[in-house]
Amino acid sequence: MSILLFVGFSVILYAFLSLIHRNISKKTSSSSSSSSSLRMSHGPPSYPIIGCLLSFYRNRSRLLDWYTDLLSRSPTQTIVIHRLGACRTVVTANPDNVEHVLKANFHNYPKGVPFTSILGDLLGCGIFNVDGPLWSTQRKLASHEFSTHSLRDFVLRMLEAEVENRLLPLLQDYADTDRTLDLQDLLKRFTFDTVCQVSLGTDPDCLDLSRPLPPLVTAFENASRICAMRATSPVYLVWKIKRALSIGSEKKLAEAVKLVHGDILDIIRNRKKKLLQENGDQQIKYDGDLLSRFLAAGHSEEMVRDMVISFVMAGRDTTSAAMTWLFWLLAQNSNAEQAIISEIDSILDQSCNKFLEFENLKEMRFLKACLCESMRLYPPIAWDSKHATVDDVLPDGTPVRKGDRVTYFPYGMGRMEELWGKDRLEFKPDRWLVGPGMEDGAKGELRAVSPFKYPVFQAGPRVCLGKQMAFIQMKYVVASILRRFEIRPVLENGSIFVPLLTAHMAGGLKVAVKKRT
Ligand code: HEM
Ligand SMILES: *[C@@H]1O[C@H](CO)[C@@H](O)[C@H](O)[C@H]1NC(C)=O
Ligand SMILES: *[C@@H]1O[C@H](CO)[C@@H](O)[C@H](O)[C@H]1NC(C)=O
Ligand SMILES: *[C@@H]1O[C@H](CO)[C@@H](O)[C@H](O)[C@H]1NC(C)=O
Ligand SMILES: *[C@@H]1O[C@H](CO)[C@@H](O)[C@H](O)[C@H]1NC(C)=O
Repeated sequence: MSILLFVGFSVILYAFLSLIHRNISKKTSSSSSSSSSLRMSHGPPSYPIIGCLLSFYRNRSRLLDWYTDLLSRSPTQTIVIHRLGACRTVVTANPDNVEHVLKANFHNYPKGVPFTSILGDLLGCGIFNVDGPLWSTQRKLASHEFSTHSLRDFVLRMLEAEVENRLLPLLQDYADTDRTLDLQDLLKRFTFDTVCQVSLGTDPDCLDLSRPLPPLVTAFENASRICAMRATSPVYLVWKIKRALSIGSEKKLAEAVKLVHGDILDIIRNRKKKLLQENGDQQIKYDGDLLSRFLAAGHSEEMVRDMVISFVMAGRDTTSAAMTWLFWLLAQNSNAEQAIISEIDSILDQSCNKFLEFENLKEMRFLKACLCESMRLYPPIAWDSKHATVDDVLPDGTPVRKGDRVTYFPYGMGRMEELWGKDRLEFKPDRWLVGPGMEDGAKGELRAVSPFKYPVFQAGPRVCLGKQMAFIQMKYVVASILRRFEIRPVLENGSIFVPLLTAHMAGGLKVAVKKRT
């Protein structure tokens, strides 16, 4: 019933919008220069009434690769898509355009209301979902948390405890009993634990597999999945109507959001009480995590709730996705795996630490090259969009109108021959190193690569705040696992990259674990 309604409604809307759209196209193509109308033709084929709906629908299960194909056929790696029911969208894999949008003309390209309304119910006015002064205040306050000093002390100690006391014993148990496990699920649980400790100062202990996942985790999972569905829904009006009526997925979203908000508020209040008691009811003092930092700065409970939720959201699935794909790629590139292990051995031979220290992690250049190479092919955030506040022209000549969506596309960029050469689809960590390559282990230096050619962490003023923390965490975890265990995927049909808000491997990554000898 609701499907019929949906289909009927969509068809009418498409027909109407494509009529309007035909009128607009006629106007712009007669008034704009010939070069811009030429560029407009580097999009999917468009038909009267239905626009590009047909090819969009046929390609819906391979949208990323479809966009990548279209982009590689465009002379400037930029296409314009008239997706009916959504705004005109410029998709670009051109580093000059990316630099213009993310840095040079930053102020013209905020996230914008169409983006922030998708995540607004969950994220409120947290850093991830706001523009302007509300954003810059949070950015300044939070950036202290990501300083080298804080990473060296707080984050590394937390990682050490989580890896040594939980992750490694768990893997050992699986190795001893010859059972397979879903590595993606394990890494997701791990990163949820660590991001909660950094952001909330609490430890949900998701790696205790004998207990079901805490409701906070499943509610988070549900809420972000449903928000991601909003973003891919062909006609935005549909989810807005479902939300107004509180039916279907929107009803589930409201329930999940209520649970997340309630749980986080409880955590805030308990911690506030504890922090006050510890300090003789004087004032709240910073205690290593973001939550105490925001409270100490005098923000209200609701504001702190929104602030920390954004951080949990940003740090939850990204690093686990990157590590999952790296383990999968290493299983097919045993030379690279061997080179990582020699690098770790040579670094640990020289230091007599029991655990990995900050300096040891910094020296792991080959491992970093492998992580960068893995995220080039499988970026945790496959695409990301901004919305223009006034008319503009991109460096390659593509016109942008007020309100247009401009999407930069890390997944497609990692696969452009213009940017990475003919061997772009191969896993070659050496492209990140100068000087001696893989055979010489850690001897090469890391190559400086423009963040606009590789915007996996975004770039410019809104570059990912957790980038350094993410690398520390990924290096710590991958090095600790590979030193002690052999990880062998037990694959059936290959793995599929699914870009929700962050990328996943469809069906998880089933692996067998063996003690490394
Ligand atoms: C491999 C791991 C990661 C990748 C690839 C990544 C990538 C990104 C990207 C592409 C953005 C821009 C998103 C947007 O503006 O829509 C972003 C923003 C952000 N990331 Fe990360 N991220 C990673 C890990 C983390 C971690 C571990 C944290 C910290 C807990 C974190 C915190 C943030 C924050 C706070 C922002 C918002 C910054 C702002 O808007 O000013 N990220 N990240
Ligand atoms: C399209 O333009 C024509 C005239 O140029 C106008 O009569 C018609 O109403 C317009 N259609 C829509 C759907 O705006
Ligand atoms: C994808 O879209 C293209 C047009 O860009 C179309 O020619 C092709 O048939 C579609 N692919 C599939 C698998 O249907
Ligand atoms: C999450 O979604 C699943 C499946 O739709 C449902 O069974 C579960 O109750 C939901 N949990 C929360 C906390 O929203
Ligand atoms: C693998 O592919 C085959 C045929 O393509 C299919 O029948 C089978 O169900 C798939 N197995 C899994 C686990 O997806």
